[in-house]
Amino acid sequence: MKCRKCGAVAVINMRQHKLALCDEHFLEWIPQQTQRAIRKYRMFGPRDRILVAVSGGKDSLSLWDVLLRLGYQAEGLYIHLGIDSGGYSDSSLEYVERFAAAREGARFRVVDVKAEYGQSVPELARRTHRGRKPCALCGLVKRYIMNRVAYEGGYDAIATGHNLDDEVAVLMQNTLRWQTGYLARQAPVLPSTHPKLARKVKPFVRLYERETAAYAIVRGIEYIYDECPYAVGSTTNFYKELLNQLEGRSPGAKLGFYLSFLEAKRQGAFSQTKEALELNECEKCGQPTTAPGLCAFCRLWER
Ligand code: AMP
Ligand code: FES
Ligand code: ZN
Ligand code: ZN
Repeated sequence: MKCRKCGAVAVINMRQHKLALCDEHFLEWIPQQTQRAIRKYRMFGPRDRILVAVSGGKDSLSLWDVLLRLGYQAEGLYIHLGIDSGGYSDSSLEYVERFAAAREGARFRVVDVKAEYGQSVPELARRTHRGRKPCALCGLVKRYIMNRVAYEGGYDAIATGHNLDDEVAVLMQNTLRWQTGYLARQAPVLPSTHPKLARKVKPFVRLYERETAAYAIVRGIEYIYDECPYAVGSTTNFYKELLNQLEGRSPGAKLGFYLSFLEAKRQGAFSQTKEALELNECEKCGQPTTAPGLCAFCRLWER
């Protein structure tokens, strides 16, 4: 296989775009595609300050790298969740530290959940969720901390490394149950609905997972290869496998599914579902919440 641009040996063939590229041209193509998504979905502009949520994985580290290469003011946030008695979380943090140490201007902050609030996420799950998997709780904790840090630090947007495979797996789960409320809210950009809630953006939303992985490898970014121990065997992973089988038979199926969903939404498919949620400020922490009194995060620590 040869690069379509220069004829050199290709490192990747992207069948959904009928495009094979060499290492050099692939390393140019990814930032171009990212910039296009940022512009198309009006994610942010050159003067905005972006908080990049970095997990130490391939997607978020590649995203941070691309945003810095594109000249954006992108600072990192790592949330130490205390997973695997620190083992998984500690090694993830090391990858983030190594990434930042190798790049001038790559500043980041760490929020350690246990140090700041008294318990790690698995400990909190054991106490409040009676041993059920901590994933849902973990999502709540991460969202809360991202919002709080973005508000306190005056950032204009929070960027996460969600790729197309992540989005399509969620889309499939939501579609199978026609969860129109979730479908109405699933988008490349979630606008700010309150002065204390920053906009949320996913600049890699049109890139396949194999492309973000290839970018990290070709670019020499070291990342944590293992996924969170609690994610092994998850429903999302099952849907990802199913969708890859579909993609194998029908290249472009994943991208087509997602883009036609966005188009249906643009035409108003779920416009009646959007309910304007009224937001109050939490009595304890002041963060916005739909609940009266305490927000869901503060309630966790009260129990
Ligand atoms: P996941 O929910 O693990 O698929 O991660 C989705 C996105 O959330 C990642 O691409 C990151 O941008 C962000 N993220 C996940 N875990 C963390 C973490 N521990 N600290 C900061 N950001 C995270
Ligand atoms: Fe939160 Fe796995 S990353 S439970
Ligand atoms: Zn080339
Ligand atoms: Zn609160």
